[in-house]
Amino acid sequence: MFGSGNPEADLVVIGEGPGADEDAQGLPFVGRAGQLLTRMLASVDLAREEVYITNAVLCRPPGNRNPEADELAACAPFLADKLGVMQPKVILTLGSVATQALLRTKEPIGKLRGRLHQYGDAVLIPTFHPAFLLRNPGQDYKRMAWDDLKLAKREYDARRTR
Ligand code: URA
Repeated sequence: MFGSGNPEADLVVIGEGPGADEDAQGLPFVGRAGQLLTRMLASVDLAREEVYITNAVLCRPPGNRNPEADELAACAPFLADKLGVMQPKVILTLGSVATQALLRTKEPIGKLRGRLHQYGDAVLIPTFHPAFLLRNPGQDYKRMAWDDLKLAKREYDARRTR
């Protein structure tokens, strides 16, 4: 499974890896976390069809465990190639796995979110993974995620060319 949405998008959203629902349908973010992602994007007036959505790993890790380093490394060239071809202006990473993989850091997501990072010529904005938000329904995380989405939208509006 690779991605879905607009292959010419200036905004690319990158999650962790397919879960059972995504594996069955061959599309990213179609389960519960995906439904929340749709609402998160809609909260800043972004439609799923307008952006491109993909994952740091392209195959479902058994039992929904986090992808291991060699699995991330095996998929990294595909993602890098895709981003190289698409040349998005803004990348929104969801959760620590995707964020740490793209930024090549071990810093926790709580420290990485809330500010802009550079990925090639693109600006990269990390936020919490929607599955984490579903497991931790407190208002604090939700508000922080919304701040990140607003930041991503602001950068997208400022930088988009298409
Ligand atoms: N979680 C992810 O990180 N990616 C998906 O595609 C679905 C759930």
